[in-house]
Amino acid sequence: MTKVMIIGSGGRESALAWKLINEDIDVFAYPGNPGIFVTGKYADISGHFDSIKDFALDRNIDLVVIGPEQYLADGLTDYLREHNIDVFGPSSQAARIETDKSYAKELMQRKNVPTADYTVVESRDQFDNEIEERDYPYVVKVSGLAGGKGAYIIKSSEDQERAVKEIFKEKRFRDAAGRIIIEEFMEGTEASLFVITDSVNAVPMLPAQDYKRALDNDRGLNTGGMGSYAPCDFVDKQVRNRIMNTIIKPVLDGLKEDGSPFRGLLYCGLMITGEGPKVVEFNARFGDPETQSILPLMKDNLYPLLKQAAAGTLDIESISFATGAAVTVIIASKGYPGQYRKGEEIKIDYGALDENIEIFQAGTMLENNKLIASGGRIIGITATGKELNEAVESVYGNIAKITINNSFYRKDIGKRALR
Ligand code: AMP
Ligand code: GLY
Repeated sequence: MTKVMIIGSGGRESALAWKLINEDIDVFAYPGNPGIFVTGKYADISGHFDSIKDFALDRNIDLVVIGPEQYLADGLTDYLREHNIDVFGPSSQAARIETDKSYAKELMQRKNVPTADYTVVESRDQFDNEIEERDYPYVVKVSGLAGGKGAYIIKSSEDQERAVKEIFKEKRFRDAAGRIIIEEFMEGTEASLFVITDSVNAVPMLPAQDYKRALDNDRGLNTGGMGSYAPCDFVDKQVRNRIMNTIIKPVLDGLKEDGSPFRGLLYCGLMITGEGPKVVEFNARFGDPETQSILPLMKDNLYPLLKQAAAGTLDIESISFATGAAVTVIIASKGYPGQYRKGEEIKIDYGALDENIEIFQAGTMLENNKLIASGGRIIGITATGKELNEAVESVYGNIAKITINNSFYRKDIGKRALR
């Protein structure tokens, strides 16, 4: 039996494990979550790089799949490759496309990739000079990893003051704010396109849309993502080809020219503007929750793609997906993305769930045989359907079969597209 080790514990990793287990892969996860361990196995290790390596070698793991960006930034891929272990995920140098936004912007500029015009500043003085004459709206981002909290859309002097306070006075982002990007605000509709690549060949998955704000109608704070749907009709085949040719290929070429070929999943966050698709940001890994919407529609097996990409031998032209749509709604702890309490019991009436429903656990743990909430994003529920409206209706019809006190979810996921 083929063996895969998944690193991570969120909804994304749950969806990856679910997909691979459906392909009869023997899945081990670290740290994983109770949902994964219903059918997958716990990798009982410390989590240090050498313990991951020892486990992979001892158990003859065929492929390690890295979920979270921090492991990529810290060089887990490089370390495992040095020990001849196949890894799906880029080297730490290649992951700079996500972990160092000023590098990503410079690379895009060099390769003429459409993105917001920008400047980089490195001090409060430079920042003040730069914003003095700027009209609202504009965007401020810290260059390093910030867990999805490092971007500020500045539409007023209050927004500006908040950004200055958090970045410079409270120093919330520490080293991640050593460089700061100030960029043009792009008007348009957002979409995420995931591309599996061995650095030469690259194949797109379905375009998805992520709902980043905490509350309905895009109110509230930015979160890791409160729901998603796929596919996005406004990213049709023609737009997708344009993204591949004007964005993905030049960026992969640029990474190669810089001596850091990218093998893994390149996540392209896009703004579809009147002038065509432009890049909002890149990530170097599967996105969450989009992965929970995309994988349930994927008809091909995922494992061969990940393995070939990891080995540098990806030789397919496209990935086959079911027609129809999928919608994912995240149930989060009340207070997320701010302070929240842990420990509420999670009750799921599995017997009552419809057949087109998948549950992906994230911030959960077992305590005295009870499933309890232990994180901000607790659980994802995905419905597939022949049409988007069917999937939306189904996901909200089934979510009532999950009860968690002091939790909340958005009621409008997928509905924007129906209007
Ligand atoms: P990021 O951390 O770069 O993904 O930014 C978080 C969110 O801020 C994005 O998903 C967009 O909704 C928004 N955003 C970031 N950059 C821009 C931009 N240049 N123009 C408009 N919206 C942006
Ligand atoms: N859904 C946004 C992310 O994964 O970064």
